[in-house]
Amino acid sequence: MILSHDVLIVGSGAAGLYAAYWASSKADVAVMSKLFPTRSHTGAAQGGIGAALGNEEEDHPLWHWYDTVKGGDYLGDQDAQKVLTYDAPQTIYELEHLGVPFSRTPEGKIAQRPFGGHTRNFGERPVRRACYAAARTGHAILHTLYEQCVKQEVTFYSEFQVLDLVLTEDKSKVIGAVAIDMLSGEVHTVHAKVVVFATGGAGKNYAITSNCQANTGDALGIMLRSGLPLEDMEFVQFHPTGLAGLGILVTEGARGEGGYLTNCNGERFMERYAPTVKDLAPRDMVSQCMYKEVLEGRGINRTGRICAEDYVYLNLQHISKEELKKKLEEIVDFATTYLGIKPWEAPVPVMPTCHYYMGGIPTDVDGRVRSDETSGIVEGLYAAGEVACVSVHGANRLGTNSLLDLVVYGRRVGLHVAKNVDSIKLTKLPDNADKRVKDMIAKLKASTGTERHGELRRELSEVMMTHVAVIRTEEGMRTALAKVRELKKRYENVSIQDKGSVFNSDLLEAIECGHMIDYSLVLIEGALVRVESRGAHERQKAGADGKLVKLSRDDENWLKHTFGWLKPDGAVELKYRRPYIITEHPEDGWAPEMMEKMKPKERKY
Ligand code: FUM
Repeated sequence: MILSHDVLIVGSGAAGLYAAYWASSKADVAVMSKLFPTRSHTGAAQGGIGAALGNEEEDHPLWHWYDTVKGGDYLGDQDAQKVLTYDAPQTIYELEHLGVPFSRTPEGKIAQRPFGGHTRNFGERPVRRACYAAARTGHAILHTLYEQCVKQEVTFYSEFQVLDLVLTEDKSKVIGAVAIDMLSGEVHTVHAKVVVFATGGAGKNYAITSNCQANTGDALGIMLRSGLPLEDMEFVQFHPTGLAGLGILVTEGARGEGGYLTNCNGERFMERYAPTVKDLAPRDMVSQCMYKEVLEGRGINRTGRICAEDYVYLNLQHISKEELKKKLEEIVDFATTYLGIKPWEAPVPVMPTCHYYMGGIPTDVDGRVRSDETSGIVEGLYAAGEVACVSVHGANRLGTNSLLDLVVYGRRVGLHVAKNVDSIKLTKLPDNADKRVKDMIAKLKASTGTERHGELRRELSEVMMTHVAVIRTEEGMRTALAKVRELKKRYENVSIQDKGSVFNSDLLEAIECGHMIDYSLVLIEGALVRVESRGAHERQKAGADGKLVKLSRDDENWLKHTFGWLKPDGAVELKYRRPYIITEHPEDGWAPEMMEKMKPKERKY
C-alpha cells in the first residue's frame, strides 16, 4: 500500500515527538516506530536534563557551553554546542508549560542537581544544572510529548519498522520510506516531502549495555545501504555505573546526590585522577579510570583483568533510605531486584556499560542531513536525537546533555520543517520503490543457509565488548575488524525459521543483525586509523618496556570529524571534516576572552 503524508518521522522518542509536535503546527505529520511511542528508550533516561536555569545556585548558558566544549574533548562543533546550551532554558520552560512534572525546590522552582562535567565559572567546582523528575526524567518528558502529539492529531503507526529510504537517483532529495507493518507483515511505501530519522541509540552491538532491545541502529544501517555517510562512529560512550555484569544503568544522579566510587582498598580513587570534581568528572574519564583501577589489580576482587568477576563499588550507604527512595527510587529498585543489594546498607558493584553513540547521521544545526564531508545536503531528509551527529557532543557527551539534545534539536527540526515544508516539492515515487525491501525479505525467507542471526549477533557483541570498548589497541581492533568482516560474509548465509507474516520477529531480528554488522564495520575502521586518544576513544600502545600506555590527544593530525561510507563490496571509505571552532570564525564576533577559553587545550578536572 502507498501511504502519503507531508512529513514522516521515524522513531517516537523525545526527539521524534518534539519534531512531530512542532511540524504538525503546519503540516500533516505521521510518526512511525517499531515500538508503541511511550515504550521508546527515552523513557529509560534517568537522572536529568541540563539547563543553566540557576534555580539552586548561580549558573549561565555560557558556563554550560564551555563545559560542553571541554567535555567533548574539543571535537564538537562549537556553533551547534552554543545552540544546545543557550536554547536549553527556554526549551525546559516550554516543556514545563506542556506539562512535564519536574521535581521542585521547596519554593516551587524546577529542582536541579549536579552531574558529571558540569561546573560553575569555567571549571571551578560542580554546579547544580540537571533538572529532573526524580530518576525518571525521560519517562516524564516522553509521556508529556506523546500526549501533546495526540492532541495535535499526529498520525501514529506503531509497530511499523522502517526498512529503507526512497531517494532520487542522485541521492540529493528524499521521496519517502519503506516500512513493514509488524502485525500483518505487509510492506508499505510512505510518500513524503520530509523524512526525519529519530530512531535513537545503537548500543546493542555491545555485550554489556544500558540500551534496550530495540536499539539496533536501524537508521544507521539504512543510511549506509543508501550510499550515505555516518559521522564520528568511533566515539561510543561507556557510562561508568552499570550494574556489574549486567550493564543496567545506575544514574549519574547517584553521584550527583553524593555517591562515590571506591576500589578494593576502600580508596576514593577519583580524587587522584580529578582532584577538583572527583566522582563528577566527565564519563569518559571516570570509565577509563575504573578500567585502570581494575587492570592494575585494585578492583574489588583484585583480578587485574576486565572480566565479569571484577568491578568497583558505588557507595550510597551514607544517604538515608528515605532520601534514596525519594530521589533515586529506580536505583534502589534495580540494586535490590537484580543484585539483592539494599544500597543504604551495602555498596553497589558497578562497571562501565555501553550507553551512547556520540556519532551518527551527520546533520547541520537545523538537523538537515549532510550527504558528504563538505557542504552537501539531502533535501527533505532530517535527523535528530541520538541517531544524529550535529555534532554537539564531540568525542564525549556530558550526562544530561542527551535529553537536552533530543528536545532542543527535536524541537528545532520541527520548527524548521514547519517553516519550510510548503516550499518543498513532492517528488514522484519511482515504480519500484519497495523492491529492495521486498527482495531482502524474500531472500531471507527463501534461504536454506546454516547461519543463525542470534549467534552472529552474540559473536558481534562479544568481540566489540572485548576489543572496541573503553580501551582500544591496534591489535585488538584488527582482531575485531577481521571478526566483523567474517560475520558480514556469514550473514549472506543466514536463514530464518519463521516463514510467516504475522509478527515475524525472526525476520526483523535478522535484518537488525545486518544493520549492526554494517555500522560496526564503519565504527571499527574509523577507530583503527585514529591514532590518538580523544574523549571516549582511549587508544593504547605498547611502550619501550612492553607495557601498554595511553596515547595523547593529537590536535595537529586528528582534530577532525570522521565521515564513513560502506561500499557495496563491504569496504569502508573514510573522509574528514574540520569541526567548527569559534576561534577559526572571528567574523562571528565573539569576545576575545571567550575565544581564548574555547581553544582546544589539555583537559583537567
Ligand atoms: O546517568 C544518567 O542518568 C544518564 C543520563 C544521561 O545519559 O544523560
